[in-house]
Amino acid sequence: MEVTLIINGDRFSFSATPDEILLDTLRKLGYKSVKRGCDSTSCGVCQILVDGKLVPSCGFLTVRANHKLITTIEGVQEQVREIANYITAEGVEQCGFCSPGHMMSLIALFKEIEHPTMEQVKHYLAGNMCRCSGYEGQHRALANYLEVNNR
Ligand code: FES
Ligand code: FES
Repeated sequence: MEVTLIINGDRFSFSATPDEILLDTLRKLGYKSVKRGCDSTSCGVCQILVDGKLVPSCGFLTVRANHKLITTIEGVQEQVREIANYITAEGVEQCGFCSPGHMMSLIALFKEIEHPTMEQVKHYLAGNMCRCSGYEGQHRALANYLEVNNR
């Protein structure tokens, strides 16, 4: 089937098979920030936005994304850099494999709730698994970010 995707503002038209998964399509098109973890919608590392909504790309058919707006971390670099500064200031960046999915959850949260509480942050991040498992440091960094940005 012919599919057109708008990824971070760039348009791509190509032929996709009915069972092609968006994660595979994005990586094939060069969006290597979108990581593959569990491949079963459980770990959150492949998360992206489709028409502004957070979805695990390993569980989303490419044909379903036809004519939709896709956002990967490459498309929100400025905001991500700002949040990442708080994470590096706490020294908790670790291996970084889960970071793109983690960041996309935060971007979705900040789109939906202007001044979230730390409880809401934790709720949005509940589906993002981190094999380095340093959640506490990351939460501390995000609490610092909220303290400055929720004023
Ligand atoms: S690879 Fe998609 S949720 Fe784990
Ligand atoms: S920072 Fe290593 S998997 Fe999360």
